[in-house]
Amino acid sequence: MSAPRVLRTAAGLSEAITDALAAKAAGGTGDPAPSLGLVPTMGALHQGHRALVDAARAANDVVVASVFVNPLQFNDPEDLHRYPRTLEADLKLLGDAGADLVFAPSEAEVYPDGPPLVRIHSGELGSRYEGRFRPGHFDGVLTVVAKLLHYAQPTLPARYRAYFGQKDAQQLALIRRMVMDLDFRAEIVGVPVVRGTDGLAESSRNVFLDAEHRRAATVLPQALFALQDQARAGVPLDLAAAVARVQAEPHVDLDYFDIVDPQTLQPLVMDGQPLRRPALALLAARVGPVRLIDNLPLDPAAG
Ligand code: PAF
Repeated sequence: MSAPRVLRTAAGLSEAITDALAAKAAGGTGDPAPSLGLVPTMGALHQGHRALVDAARAANDVVVASVFVNPLQFNDPEDLHRYPRTLEADLKLLGDAGADLVFAPSEAEVYPDGPPLVRIHSGELGSRYEGRFRPGHFDGVLTVVAKLLHYAQPTLPARYRAYFGQKDAQQLALIRRMVMDLDFRAEIVGVPVVRGTDGLAESSRNVFLDAEHRRAATVLPQALFALQDQARAGVPLDLAAAVARVQAEPHVDLDYFDIVDPQTLQPLVMDGQPLRRPALALLAARVGPVRLIDNLPLDPAAG
């Protein structure tokens, strides 16, 4: 695949998108409204991101990925400082996956006046689970996602889709709500979690796990899959046993583990009854130097 074109400014991106969509519209496919797929990322790309680009590539005429480490969503300056920055390797992965354009702006391009005084507020949905451990994180995510959705918004008639991983389940739920509540034009597409052969969900932070911590971390997907098996078998979910299983692993410090409604992230009360509706098992834990999140859909109908 050829190397994608890299754009550093929002104006340059908008112009490149207009040109690419116009070329597709004139390309004689008979479809007067071509489609644009946007894949926002913070770089340090792995197979989970590759799955996002693959999904965008399969469904759209023009694919744009963005690579921007958004300072607004880091509440720990040390975490921001050590976040891996690997643009060259990222461009290779994006080129191999067939992205047409890559938006890689500077911080000054996105926040020309410094940290914005006005931000998108993630509300009650953003204050639960991850929000409790990372105050302000989701306001920062939504603010930058809103900006990226504006930058890439097609100026020609076009279908507009944006792709996000289901691994960040709360982020995805919030972005869907923002788009719905604030009338953004993009259609939001969630892409399933990609896992290693040991079951661990792909994450840019996995590079900080040594072999011992990586082994310990596999208790997280194991506990989630045990709940999924119970949901499919139509037996009551044993959340307490799943929690105990994680807590028995000495290298793992559990922050939360719950079964929630996939859209609202409200905890579900099951009173010892089998699950009767789609739900999400959701957890976060610290494993050695890294904080990991993971989740798994629970669907009794999939049994
Ligand atoms: O999921 C991420 O990588 C980031 O939170 C996002 C959506 C690119 C916003 O910075």
